[in-house]
Amino acid sequence: MLNPFLQAARPYPRKLSVDLHSFCNARCTMCPYPRYAPRQTQGHMDRHRYRQILDEMALIGRTRRFQPILTFCYMGEPFLADDLGQCVRDARDRDLAVYLNTNAALMTPPRVDELLAAAFDGAIHISVHGITPEVYYRVTGLDLDPTLANIRYLLSRYDPARVCIRGVDDGWPVGERDKWRAFWQPLGVQLECLAPISRCGGVGRLLPARCRDRRTVRLFGCRCHHPLVEMVILFDGRAVMCCQDMGRELVWGDVGKDGILAVWNGSVRRQALQQLYGGRPASRQFLCTRCEQALGLTGLVRSLCQTALRKALPTRPKAPTNLPTAQAVGLHPRACQLNHPAKKPILNFVEAGREGVTPCGECKCGPS
Ligand SMILES: C[S@@+](CC[C@H](N)C(=O)[O-])C[C@H]1O[C@@H](n2cnc3c(N)ncnc32)[C@H](O)[C@@H]1O
Ligand code: SF4
Repeated sequence: MLNPFLQAARPYPRKLSVDLHSFCNARCTMCPYPRYAPRQTQGHMDRHRYRQILDEMALIGRTRRFQPILTFCYMGEPFLADDLGQCVRDARDRDLAVYLNTNAALMTPPRVDELLAAAFDGAIHISVHGITPEVYYRVTGLDLDPTLANIRYLLSRYDPARVCIRGVDDGWPVGERDKWRAFWQPLGVQLECLAPISRCGGVGRLLPARCRDRRTVRLFGCRCHHPLVEMVILFDGRAVMCCQDMGRELVWGDVGKDGILAVWNGSVRRQALQQLYGGRPASRQFLCTRCEQALGLTGLVRSLCQTALRKALPTRPKAPTNLPTAQAVGLHPRACQLNHPAKKPILNFVEAGREGVTPCGECKCGPS
């Protein structure tokens, strides 16, 4: 089947997620890290290799006339890298836009100063999974007070509109969500409260029944289109299918050896995309059959209708926003296309100029 999303795919990534290392200081209940880490190879990326990757990505950006986007450690904690400031500086010197995902437990005031001195000006997504100390500790294994102190310091030095506090509600008690919102809302930060997903079955108890029961399934795409835009590179240079592939199941190739473009356009990725977007029968061995983001035929039709609807509707004047830098790195506040009231500010990752493919997040009806 000719899937329009696949046909429009570019022969280069626009975004990289690079593992400076593969370690985490937390043990979140809904993250596969505690289970995977003891049985996976672990390590730090060689910094010469890191700079080679940046050089190639910067060249792709210059040649194709766009600003590449970089983030770090898809299953680890970037602040565990002592030289995070230097790594950010290396990327900024090459005109890559950088944003961070962190649990902020190690984001102490000197580390914040170091980051800002490295010309960091991107979005920071901070995981705070609960606002009652006991709940936060139960979910993450970390103490809440030091994390809050670090975030307070950051907010005294950095535009709160570029900070997004993310809470994954993994069994929060009744009332925790309201407390969590009431704590953060007055601070002017963006908020995102999510239900946990299973990371392709990496956390078995979170795998929805519809994914569990599948034997053979036909897939017609990915709600996030991760593998059409982003390359996730492990500490040892291997690239995997996407940020959900924490089990390192679907390895596209070795970027350290062959380079970004060769792996991106290589046969493993091409076949995986055919499997994900082409509607071919796939067994449960195929990673995406166990992913909540994978689309069946109905999902594809809905996605195409949303895109068509969006094109047909007159463009509404944009509301003023105080997020210039977040927008510069490709993070746009979104409202619902069908005028459902947004109950909270939403940051979704969207490529500049790319047709929306992600549900609005609040009502799941379509992107703006
Ligand atoms: C795996 S973490 C790595 C970065 C960093 N250590 C952190 O905690 O933010 C990346 C993001 O995934 C989110 N996350 C972790 N487990 C999740 C799950 N099961 N479902 C949805 N999001 C999850 C975290 O909140 C974080 O925003
Ligand atoms: S369907 Fe899931 S695992 Fe597959 S590419 Fe999309 S997000 Fe990744």
